[in-house]
Amino acid sequence: MKKKSSKKSKSKKISSGARKPAVLFEAKDFLSLKEVHASDLETLFKLADKMKKNPAQFLGKLKGKSLALLFQKPSIRTRVSFQVGMAQLGGNCVYMDPQEMPLGERESIKDVARVLSRYCDAVVTRTYSHTALEDFAKFATVPVINGLSDSYHPCQTIADLFTIREKFGDLKKINIAYIGDSNNVLNSLLYGVAKVGANLSIASPRGYEPNEEILKDLKLQCKDSGAKIAVCNNPFNAIKNAHVVYTDVWVSMGQEKQRDQRLRDFQPFQVNGAIASKAPKDSIFMHCLPAHRGEEITDEVIEHPRSAIFDQAENRLHTQKALLYLLLTRKTKKKK
Ligand code: CP
Ligand code: NVA
Repeated sequence: MKKKSSKKSKSKKISSGARKPAVLFEAKDFLSLKEVHASDLETLFKLADKMKKNPAQFLGKLKGKSLALLFQKPSIRTRVSFQVGMAQLGGNCVYMDPQEMPLGERESIKDVARVLSRYCDAVVTRTYSHTALEDFAKFATVPVINGLSDSYHPCQTIADLFTIREKFGDLKKINIAYIGDSNNVLNSLLYGVAKVGANLSIASPRGYEPNEEILKDLKLQCKDSGAKIAVCNNPFNAIKNAHVVYTDVWVSMGQEKQRDQRLRDFQPFQVNGAIASKAPKDSIFMHCLPAHRGEEITDEVIEHPRSAIFDQAENRLHTQKALLYLLLTRKTKKKK
C-alpha cells in the first residue's frame, strides 16, 4: 500500500493560460479561446507555419473526415477558408445556411447537435447568441468550433496572432492598439493577448468600452503571461508605441437597428490617414474584414503599404487547417 504523505500537497493555483496541458487541445470544443492553453496556441502557430510553407506535406491528412458548417449569418472568409482547408487536408464539408437549418426553429438545438455528431467529425457554427452555441456544444459529441457568435470570434484571433507573429517574429510584448467597438472580435483578441503575453491598448467611445467581466477574468492570465491591457477613449493615445493598429466594423451583424446611433458615436474613432500618419513608422494595420470602407477604416489605410489585412485574411486558411488537424487527430474517445 502506498504510504500517505503526512504533509498535505499544496495545490497550485495556475491559470489555464499558463498550465501545460496533458493533452493538446484538451477541451472538447473551441468556443471562445478561454478554454485554450497558451502552449496549445504556440503548437497551433508552429503547425500553421509548416502548413503554410509546405501544404503538400499535409495533403490527405484528414481523409475520410467530415466537417459540418452550420451558419446563421453570412460569411466569406470563415466559410471558404474552412471548406478549402478541409478539401486540402483530404476531408469534406457540408454547408448549411440559415434557410435550410434555422437553428432552434425546425427542430431543437440539442437534436440537431446530436444528429450532426452521428454524421460528422466536427461542426463549425456561426450563431447570434453565444448561449445557443454553448447549448449546441453541450449536446454535440464531436468538437464544436465557434465560427463567430455575438460574443466571440476565436478563429479570427488565431489568424490575427499568427499574422502578428509572422510580421514581428514574436508575440510577447508586441503592442496592439485596437480602435473601435468592444465586440466579438475584441473579446477573443483580449483572451488571445492575455495568453500570449502581448499588450493591448483599446480606444472606444464612452459607453462602448470592453466588458468588465472579461477584463476581470483576464487578470490572472495577464499576470502569468506578462500581458498588459489598457482602456482609454482617445485613439491617438492608444496608438502611441503601437506595432499593430487594429479595427473592426462599428455595426456588427445583428446590430443593424443601432446603425445611425453607432455611426455618430464612433465617428472620432475612424482609422484613417491621420491615425496612420501618427502611428509608429514600423506599425502595421489590421482589420478582420468585411470592412465598411469610409466608416471604421478608410481606403487609404486598407491600401496602405503597411496594411496586413489581406495576409490576415489568408492566414484564416492556414490557422484553421492547423486547428482542424489538432482537433481531429488528437487521441480522445468519441462519446455516443
Ligand atoms: N472575418 C470574418 O469572419 O469574415 P466572414 O464574416 O466573411 O467569415
Ligand atoms: N464584428 C463583426 C465581425 C465580422 C467578421 C460582426 O460580428 O459582424
